[in-house]
Amino acid sequence: MKALRTFIADLQNEYQLIKMGFVKDQNGIIRRFMREKQHWVDHLTQSKNFILKSTEKKDKGTCAVLGSGWLLDLPLDELSNMFSEVILIDLIHPKAVMHKIQKLSNVKCVHADITGGLVDLFYKSLPKNRILPQALKTYHYKLSVRTDFVISLNILCQLHILLLDYVKRFNVYSQNELAQMERIIQESHLEILPKNKTCLITDFEEEILDEKDKIIGINPLIHVDLPEGNFSQQWQWKFDSSMTYREEAKTFFNTKAIDF
Ligand SMILES: C[S@@+](CC[C@H](N)C(=O)[O-])C[C@H]1O[C@@H](n2cnc3c(N)ncnc32)[C@H](O)[C@@H]1O
Repeated sequence: MKALRTFIADLQNEYQLIKMGFVKDQNGIIRRFMREKQHWVDHLTQSKNFILKSTEKKDKGTCAVLGSGWLLDLPLDELSNMFSEVILIDLIHPKAVMHKIQKLSNVKCVHADITGGLVDLFYKSLPKNRILPQALKTYHYKLSVRTDFVISLNILCQLHILLLDYVKRFNVYSQNELAQMERIIQESHLEILPKNKTCLITDFEEEILDEKDKIIGINPLIHVDLPEGNFSQQWQWKFDSSMTYREEAKTFFNTKAIDF
């Protein structure tokens, strides 16, 4: 009976994540990676190298990875060798990732909402109940107190996007309220990251370019102050050179990595 209940709960959860767009988005990442491989290599290498540098002065007990996804930007084998345990945290873990970790006995996948419950909250309350933006401030993901090293893996600039795209379908919030929610979600994420135990990697702005690589627009992606940190690095992620993300324009992200 318990097994049947778990099976039904898993199905409902999967249906919810499909309906809200999370599954499509994650599959989109791997498809874009296959298309853009040669343009992504530099970003993925920089991300992995920075993470390894950031591990240097950290205790080597538990490492938690927020937004692990396809592990494209994560040096998983090295982390598994270095730490007693590595916990990959995401709403969805692709089957290929579940398969890969089978041979790494100290790595496990945890299904969790890194916003601390906003995914469920919006799914269950809209359109009937309109949650006040201020109420979002009480939602935080709780990392285990045993965590020695946290990697926020290109998720800070992403956390609000799919959530708010879902929310926008109901037309119940003004542009101001949506911007307020975006800020609160980013602030809450920064608040859960422990000092001197964190490696934060995030895109902070997007550049839109024409086919001759002339910049035709720049949009900020982070609406809160980022910590200065012990050390940091910046690079560009040539995210979409084939002009499929935006019609007739390329999209590059400026990415920042911070050890703090
Ligand atoms: C841009 S990807 C990060 C890149 C990732 N490291 C990779 O290689 O695929 C964002 C990831 O965050 C996950 N994600 C988005 N919102 C989330 C949430 N509220 N809680 C947990 N994971 C979330 C997505 O499922 C996706 O796998």
